[in-house]
Amino acid sequence: MFSCLVISVLCFLLLCSSSWAVEGQCLDEQRHLLLHLKHNLSFFSSSESGVPVGLSSWDLNTDCCRSWEGVECNQIGEVIGLDLSFKSIVGSTDGLASLFRLSHLQGLNLGYNHFNSVIPSGFDRLPHLTHLNLSNSYVVGQIPIGISRLMRLVSLDLSANFFDPRKNHLKLENPNLRMLVGNLSELRELRLDVVNISSHKERNEWAQIFSSSLPKLQVLSLLNCSLSGPFHSSLSKLHSLSELWLALNNFSAEIPEFFGSFSNLTVLELVDCGLKGNVPQSIFTLPKLQYLDLSYNPLLEGSLPEFSQDNSLQYLSILDLSVTGPIPSSIGNLKQLESFDLSQNQISGSVPFEIGKLSELETLDLSNNQLVGEIPSSLGFLNHLNYLDLSFNNLSGPVPRILAKEFSSMYSFIMKINIINGTTSLL
Ligand SMILES: *[C@@H]1O[C@H](CO)[C@@H](O)[C@H](O)[C@H]1NC(C)=O
Ligand SMILES: *[C@@H]1O[C@H](CO)[C@@H](O)[C@H](O)[C@H]1NC(C)=O
Ligand SMILES: *[C@@H]1O[C@H](CO)[C@@H](O)[C@H](O)[C@H]1NC(C)=O
Ligand SMILES: *[C@@H]1O[C@H](CO)[C@@H](O)[C@H](O)[C@H]1NC(C)=O
Ligand SMILES: *[C@@H]1O[C@H](CO)[C@@H](O)[C@H](O)[C@H]1NC(C)=O
Ligand SMILES: *[C@@H]1O[C@H](CO)[C@@H](O)[C@H](O)[C@H]1NC(C)=O
Ligand SMILES: *[C@@H]1O[C@H](CO)[C@@H](O)[C@H](O)[C@H]1NC(C)=O
Ligand SMILES: *[C@@H]1O[C@H](CO)[C@@H](O)[C@H](O)[C@H]1NC(C)=O
Ligand SMILES: *[C@@H]1O[C@H](CO)[C@@H](O)[C@H](O)[C@H]1NC(C)=O
Repeated sequence: MFSCLVISVLCFLLLCSSSWAVEGQCLDEQRHLLLHLKHNLSFFSSSESGVPVGLSSWDLNTDCCRSWEGVECNQIGEVIGLDLSFKSIVGSTDGLASLFRLSHLQGLNLGYNHFNSVIPSGFDRLPHLTHLNLSNSYVVGQIPIGISRLMRLVSLDLSANFFDPRKNHLKLENPNLRMLVGNLSELRELRLDVVNISSHKERNEWAQIFSSSLPKLQVLSLLNCSLSGPFHSSLSKLHSLSELWLALNNFSAEIPEFFGSFSNLTVLELVDCGLKGNVPQSIFTLPKLQYLDLSYNPLLEGSLPEFSQDNSLQYLSILDLSVTGPIPSSIGNLKQLESFDLSQNQISGSVPFEIGKLSELETLDLSNNQLVGEIPSSLGFLNHLNYLDLSFNNLSGPVPRILAKEFSSMYSFIMKINIINGTTSLL
C-alpha cells in the first residue's frame, strides 16, 4: 500500500518534471548570445528604438524560449531554431558573429534582409543545421566552403528573386557547385536561383553533379543560372523529384522523354528555356502534376494529348510555343484546372463545348491561334472566370448570355473577345 503510494508520487513527480522540460526554459548563456546578436545587428527601421517591432520581444527579463519572436528551443532550453527573416537587417554580416556560438541550431532563416556583404565563414560551427535559408538577403560573392560541410542539411536556400546587373550576386567558383553539394547527401530542397555558377563545364554538367550527390532531392530550383543543355540522362535518377524550376536558362535542347517518368512531380516549370523539338505527351499526363509551365519556348512543338479523369493539373501554360492541332474535348476532364493559357500557338479547330466543365477555371487565354467556329455557350457555366481572352482567332457567334450578364457585374473582369477577327456580338 505504502510503496504503491510512493510509486505514484514518484510517477507524479516524474510526469511533472518532464512536462516542465517540454516547455524548455531559456538557458542564461543562450539568452546572452541572442542579446549580443540583437545588439550587434543593424536594422533599417522606422521605429524609435531602431529595433524592428518583432525583435522588441527579445527582452532580458523574459524567457527567450517562450516569448521571443523567431526563437525555438529544445526541451532543455537550447536554441535550435532562429527565424530572422523579414527583419530589415542591414549592413555587414559581421554582426552575426555570436550566431555561430548558438551551436545547437538546427534551423536558421536570415532571408529577406539587406546585408549587402558576403556570407560570413563560420557555418561549420553549426554542425546540427538541417535548414539554412539566406534567400533574397542581398548576400554577395563567393559562397563559403563551410556550408558544404553541413552534412545534415535537408534544405538549402541561397536564391535571389531577380538578376540585377548593378549588383554582385552569389558565386560558386571555389568552392564550385560540385564541392558545395558533394557531401550534402541528405538534401531534399535546393534553391540556387540567380547564383553565378562560374564554370562553363559545371553549367553543362549540373544534372550529373546533382544526381550523383543528392539522391533524396525533391525540390530543385535553378532559375537564371546560365545552365546549358542537353538534359543529361542521369537526371532521371532523381526519382523523388517533386518540383523542378528551371526558367530563364538556355538549354537549346529537347525535353527528354524521361521527364514523363517522374512519378512524384507536382511542378514542372521550364519558362523561356530555349527548348525545341516535340513536347513529350507523357508530361501532360503525369499523375501528380499540378503546375506545368512551358511558356516562351517558341521552337517547342507538339499537340495536346487526351486528358484522363485522374489528371491533377491546376495550372497549364503553354503560351508562345508552336503547338498545333485541336483542343481535345477531354480537356473537360481537368476538373481542377484554374489557369489555362494556350495563347500564341497554332491551335486549330473549334473551342470544345466541354471547356464549360472546367468549373474551377479563373483564367482562360486562347488568343492568337487559329480557332474557328462559334464561341461555345458552355463558357457561361464558368462561374469563377475572371480573365478571358479569345482575340486574334476566327471565332464567331454571340458571347453567351449568362457569361455576358456575369461580366457586367464584375468590375475586375478583363474581357477581350475577337477584337480583330471574326464577327461576335454581345447579347
Ligand atoms: C557583439 O556584441 C558584444 C557585446 O554585446 C561585443 O562584446 C562583441 O565584440 C560584438 N561582436 C561583434 C562582432 O560586433
Ligand atoms: C526561405 O525563407 C523565405 C522567407 O521566409 C521563404 O519564403 C522561403 O520559402 C524559404 N525557403 C525554403 C526553402 O524554405
Ligand atoms: C539572367 O542572368 C543574366 C546574367 O547571368 C542576366 O544577364 C539576365 O538579364 C538575367 N535574366 C533575367 C530575365 O533576369
Ligand atoms: C566530403 O567529406 C569527406 C570526408 O569528410 C572529405 O574527405 C571530402 O573532401 C568531402 N568532399 C567534398 C566534395 O567536400
Ligand atoms: C560570374 O562569375 C564569373 C567568374 O567569376 C565572372 O567572370 C562573370 O562576370 C560572372 N557573371 C555575372 C553575370 O556576374
Ligand atoms: C512519392 O511520394 C510518396 C508520398 O509522398 C512517397 O511515399 C514515395 O516514396 C515517393 N516516391 C519516390 C520515388 O520518391
Ligand atoms: C541559346 O543558345 C543557343 C545555342 O548555344 C544560341 O544559338 C541562342 O542564341 C541562345 N539563345 C539566347 C536567347 O541566348
Ligand atoms: C485576321 O484578319 C486579318 C485581316 O483582317 C488576316 O490577315 C489575319 O490572317 C486574320 N487572323 C486570323 C487569326 O484569322
Ligand atoms: C473565318 O471563318 C469564316 C467562316 O467560317 C471563313 O469564311 C473565313 O475564311 C475565315 N477567315 C479566316 C481568316 O480564316
